[in-house]
Amino acid sequence: MLSDTARLDLPHILTALPGPRARAVIERDQAVLSPSYTRSYPLVASRGEGVIVEDVDGNRFLDFSAGIAVASTGHCHPEVVEAIERQSARLIHMSGTDFYYENMVEFAEKLSATAPGGVPRRVYFGNSGTEAMEAAMKLARFHTGRDKFIAFRGAFHGRTMGALSLTASKAVQRKGFGPLIPGVFHAHYPDPYRRPAGVSAEDHAMACVHAIEEDLFRRMLPPDEVAAIVVEPIQGEGGYIIPPKNFLGELASLAERHGILLVFDEVQCGMGRTGKLWAAEHFGVTPDIFASAKGIASGLPLSATIARAGIMNWPAGAHASTFGGNPVAIAAALATFDLLQRELIANAAGMGAYILDRLRDFPRRFPHVGDVRGLGLMIGIEIVHDQESKERAPELRDRLVTLAFERGLLVLGAGRNAIRLSPPLIITRDQADFAVDTLEECLKLEA
Ligand SMILES: Cc1ncc(COP(=O)(O)O)c(C=O)c1O
Repeated sequence: MLSDTARLDLPHILTALPGPRARAVIERDQAVLSPSYTRSYPLVASRGEGVIVEDVDGNRFLDFSAGIAVASTGHCHPEVVEAIERQSARLIHMSGTDFYYENMVEFAEKLSATAPGGVPRRVYFGNSGTEAMEAAMKLARFHTGRDKFIAFRGAFHGRTMGALSLTASKAVQRKGFGPLIPGVFHAHYPDPYRRPAGVSAEDHAMACVHAIEEDLFRRMLPPDEVAAIVVEPIQGEGGYIIPPKNFLGELASLAERHGILLVFDEVQCGMGRTGKLWAAEHFGVTPDIFASAKGIASGLPLSATIARAGIMNWPAGAHASTFGGNPVAIAAALATFDLLQRELIANAAGMGAYILDRLRDFPRRFPHVGDVRGLGLMIGIEIVHDQESKERAPELRDRLVTLAFERGLLVLGAGRNAIRLSPPLIITRDQADFAVDTLEECLKLEA
């Protein structure tokens, strides 16, 4: 049980932050953990229940980060816990790469049946978003016999050498690690908030796609050498940017004209977060390959690379992973999938619309809020120095994130200057109100 105060579903801060136990853990952490981890504030989590995370000092926080968009069904959802307990008492590991087990087949069938476009699919299971993208890259090269890729500025696709070559989010993620794999070209991702003056969002999207054809393909990159265009339907780490409606369709036509595969990275925006199972469904576009991870198993490590059946034609031994599709992770995923389809995708759509409605007048009320945007429970609030120049305000964004933490609300930044709201898909209206009220309070303090 969480510590007792009137509302167990809302935050309760008992100590100065970090509290004494948290301070002690952080001190030990600093001596032995990789300094490459980025911690925005000193939360030392001890347990989680629903949307609440309790720290080691008994402080309760409302988790609007969901462990970076992972705890889709909330922390320790009883049905997920039960599925994990049941499976782990039966079979923890057998390696689906060398042997068969039924729940891996069952989950692949479900993913295949619900994937956008209604075309037959095959599924490769890995352990992380990065691995899902790595598999997508290898499969695209193998299937097409081509070696080049187009990705987008601002994209985050992971940190292993292949996936990192696609990532163009923050220079620190690449610094010192080159050379990365050659032949990856980065095009502009259309950001409706930062489009050129006097140009509609749709025309801006068209211009970004035309630049691939008219500039990249003419000057540098023969299109028949391109294996895949890799894109996040909604940019996550790049700042929770929702492209104009026509962007992905235009990209799909371009890809089709040149025999290039279209890969959607739905690691952050998929699995119901946007109020539909797949973000692609909002745009009516069917990717050839797409990647899923994060929220897929409510916190157990699992990812899926889902391709049109005819594309996943590599032979036995071409690609595999010892742990990928682990039976316990799959059991958690099956329970998660069931909860999403039964109620949580609808809740994400409803609560997302409610929060966006409450945030809509923030740019009018707060001079430092440049833009509010979102789909379902993938919501970004862009913090600027002033609305006229749209100059980014990363330090102010960081202060707001810390102020929210001190008030019991866990949020994270995205991109250089946006606050992301990516709560579990189970949030209630009271929890949504607490989050918006807290953000309001923080913005007033920094007005
Ligand atoms: C869109 C996207 N792709 C890939 C990744 C990499 O996932 P992982 O950290 O599980 O390797 C992330 C992680 O943030 C992501 O947001």
